[in-house]
Amino acid sequence: MIIVVTGGAGFIGSNLLQSLVPRFPEHHFVNVDKLGYAANLQSLAEIENAPNYTFEQGDIADRTAVESLFERHAPDAVIHLAAESHVDRSIVDPGSFIQSNVVGTFNLLDVCRNAWVTGNHVFHHVSTDEVFGSLGADGAFHEETRYDPSSPYSASKAGSDHLVRAYHRTFGLPIKITNCSNNYGPRQFPEKLIPLMILNAVERKPLPIYGRGANVRDWLYVGDHCDAIWEVFTRGRLGETYVIGGRAELDNLTVVRSICRIVAEETGAPTDELEALVRFVADRPGHDLRYAIDPSHIEAELGWRPRETFEAGLRKTVRWYLDNGTWVDGVRTGAYREWIARNYDRRT
Ligand code: NAD
Ligand code: TYD
Repeated sequence: MIIVVTGGAGFIGSNLLQSLVPRFPEHHFVNVDKLGYAANLQSLAEIENAPNYTFEQGDIADRTAVESLFERHAPDAVIHLAAESHVDRSIVDPGSFIQSNVVGTFNLLDVCRNAWVTGNHVFHHVSTDEVFGSLGADGAFHEETRYDPSSPYSASKAGSDHLVRAYHRTFGLPIKITNCSNNYGPRQFPEKLIPLMILNAVERKPLPIYGRGANVRDWLYVGDHCDAIWEVFTRGRLGETYVIGGRAELDNLTVVRSICRIVAEETGAPTDELEALVRFVADRPGHDLRYAIDPSHIEAELGWRPRETFEAGLRKTVRWYLDNGTWVDGVRTGAYREWIARNYDRRT
């Protein structure tokens, strides 16, 4: 099978390809990524010369580029991860989220509709639990939860989910959708909570927590998400949605304290010295209070379960950032430093 993976140079996409390319030599994987700020070809170094792997730089918001890609590769299936993915950036620059997440998804769907007249095909849309908005103290998101997005990021992902479902209902496009909770693990761009806090703790920089750190996220190790994507892609039902989560709900302050403890254990620093770096800073506008997932549908139907506990996954992640200084130096460019200054200077 020829499988296009969009956004394969980003965090989840690169972990997915690192796992699939060596395991499935019978499939050819075409990674399409525009190489935006969060992309990193270093994340794909181990597979870049594999015979069943091709990289194509391309912008899915460019219809002509998507058509040309389909003409050249004639893919059987798409696993669609390409997106602008950071909530704080969507507050500063919503337009790029509409382009990549809404227009980009539309272009892919429409080109698939025209290309896939006969044969067995799958369009797997990788989405987020943030489309459902915020939970209160109780309950968990499930496949029937009403959409209620809060940020331009989550609204753009909600829009893309609706387009994917509409192409199934209207045109019969063979789609699957997964909505996953917060991922963490190796190769995540250090603008997101966990890698940012790991690197800041290692370097004794302030640990900026929005509001009082009481917001709750459900955390899933990226390798477990990648396994779930592959289970749904290969065995999930067409037209179906699966929510994915780690049953690991934690508030942000607890997450940051765990990072301090593990960084301290792994580097020999005193934990209290790292915890003293915590700063409560101005909250994110529209900050969702709590996300939680009821993954019983994917558990019952596909037998998927997360393998990593949060403690073990977080320790692996800390070790990865400690052991991969070249990768870290490579992503902390001038543009990265400008983003950090822009996002945090106004909060303190
Ligand atoms: P990321 O920002 O690390 O990577 C996204 C990749 O998409 C980047 O390599 C970027 O260059 C590429 N991209 C963006 N716009 C593009 C365009 N117009 N054309 C081609 N490539 C483009 O994001 P991630 O964390 O790896 O997330 C991947 C997907 O998974 C996203 O769709 C996201 O909404 C979804 N998701 C992420 C999480 C999470 O916790 N990170 C959780 C659930 C779902
Ligand atoms: P993030 O990693 O941006 O993921 P998302 O917003 O998609 O859930 O943020 C996770 C949580 O951490 C969220 O509640 C916002 C909070 N947060 C901070 O408190 N400080 C930070 O510097 C960042 C980046 C996030």
